[in-house]
Amino acid sequence: MAFLMTIGEVSRRSGVASSALRFYEERGLITSQRAGSGHRRFPRSVLRRIAFIVFAQRIGLSLGEIGTELEKLPPGRVPSQRDWARLSSNWTARVDERIAELERLRAGLTECIGCGCLSLDRCRLSNPGDRAAGFGPGPRYWIGDHPPARPG
Ligand code: FES
Repeated sequence: MAFLMTIGEVSRRSGVASSALRFYEERGLITSQRAGSGHRRFPRSVLRRIAFIVFAQRIGLSLGEIGTELEKLPPGRVPSQRDWARLSSNWTARVDERIAELERLRAGLTECIGCGCLSLDRCRLSNPGDRAAGFGPGPRYWIGDHPPARPG
């Protein structure tokens, strides 16, 4: 039992509420063992899985997608560095995508973002007549579409 942690200990160390840990367990994202008392006991290695889950959610992965990623890890033993590396190509692409989105968010705070509001002076040049709506819904220039070229 020396390397096993109670749900309270895992919650304190990970910063994730016990209710969320139980939810993750229900979704099969983490697993515990039952002690003789019937209480959950987690291997210490679960902390790394929890950190992955929390950060993957922050970059926009759904719990379903996170579950798919975690299924690439071997069941029944502590994942090695090599095991974690199997997740990396998908993960790296998502992180890069998120970085690009955040950079557009930062750069676009004072620019027209093609959202259809036409509320800034710049919208007249960047989104005349809400042309951005032709690309689809949402703030099109944040999503990655480009405003029309300005007359030179
Ligand atoms: S900022 Fe909304 S359309 Fe320009």
